[in-house]
Amino acid sequence: MLILGIESSCDETAAALVLDGNTILSSSVASQIDVHHPFGGVVPELASRKHIESIVPVVEDALDKAGKRPDQIDAIAVTQGPGLIGSLLVGFSFAKGYACSLGIPWVGVNHLEGHVNSVFLTPEPPAFPFTALLASGGHTSIYHAVSHTELEIMGRTRDDAAGEAYDKVAKMLGLGYPGGSAIDSLARKGNPLKIPFPKPYLDKSAFDFSFSGIKTAVSRYIQKHSETFSHEITDIAAGFQESVVEVLTHKLILAAEVKGVSHVAVVGGVAANSHLRKSVEKQASLKGLSVHIPPADLCGDNAAMIAAIGYHYLKQGFTSDMNSDVFSKIITN
Ligand code: KG4
Ligand code: ZN
Repeated sequence: MLILGIESSCDETAAALVLDGNTILSSSVASQIDVHHPFGGVVPELASRKHIESIVPVVEDALDKAGKRPDQIDAIAVTQGPGLIGSLLVGFSFAKGYACSLGIPWVGVNHLEGHVNSVFLTPEPPAFPFTALLASGGHTSIYHAVSHTELEIMGRTRDDAAGEAYDKVAKMLGLGYPGGSAIDSLARKGNPLKIPFPKPYLDKSAFDFSFSGIKTAVSRYIQKHSETFSHEITDIAAGFQESVVEVLTHKLILAAEVKGVSHVAVVGGVAANSHLRKSVEKQASLKGLSVHIPPADLCGDNAAMIAAIGYHYLKQGFTSDMNSDVFSKIITN
């Protein structure tokens, strides 16, 4: 089944053509970093406008790169939520109209389920059940993945997401937006033990996260050393990263042990982090767990992961209709 995936939940407009939920024929991503960079974060109104400009060229680019015509697409999968409503609406409305004009089925999917399913676009995907750590700009969660579409949540962040903490600390250090990859590179030159920031464990035996405390600790350190901190940026980045990565790794490995699985996955934008990748590989190998982390271009927002999860819903007979609408947040009790 040839699926056109469409993603527009935040600040990337993306389209991809994926065969049978696992083979990427093309993946096109139009990033809006240049638009939002001067503001130090995503400006929702500007994001929506940019999605409107980019959606048609991005879909055309994905078709061109795959060497496919629109009449060869079997179905469309599109992000329904969570995300920025004005951004989601662009991709979602486009998908509705395009599917209608082509006379093909379409399905709205959950962006977070898309991230977890990004591991099935790699040559050696995990076997079910497995434990997945999703760390992105908006979410930090641990799932027990029973099947492609059944993800049992084991823990989530109580406040800031890991990516959000990276972005806020990067802003404090004057590194611009988004800051995750900038901290990743700077931290490689710093000493992670020189400035020990608190390890935000909450409860060491439970799976919820909290990253607002470490963000505040970095902010206090910078205020206290306002004259000198600019000479210590690499050590601050390394110390902050050490704390975040240690907690993420510990909780993922513990969750896998509790569930007795033999595969773990790390997905979402923060999964591109070089220290997190090494740390999970190291700790997992000590426990005999096999590790699945997508390449960096599949960690950040993309439409191939949306097509991948859409395939499994469509195969189960799920489709969306003209009354379907986007949602901004997952409602939890
Ligand atoms: O999954 P994603 O592309 O978008 C959301 O769904 O939120 O994640 C974006 C987040 C941003 O906070 C960004 O700073 C972070 O992923 N990120 C990183 C790295 N690359 C991107 N964080 C740490 N290290 C990286 N190398
Ligand atoms: Zn995402």
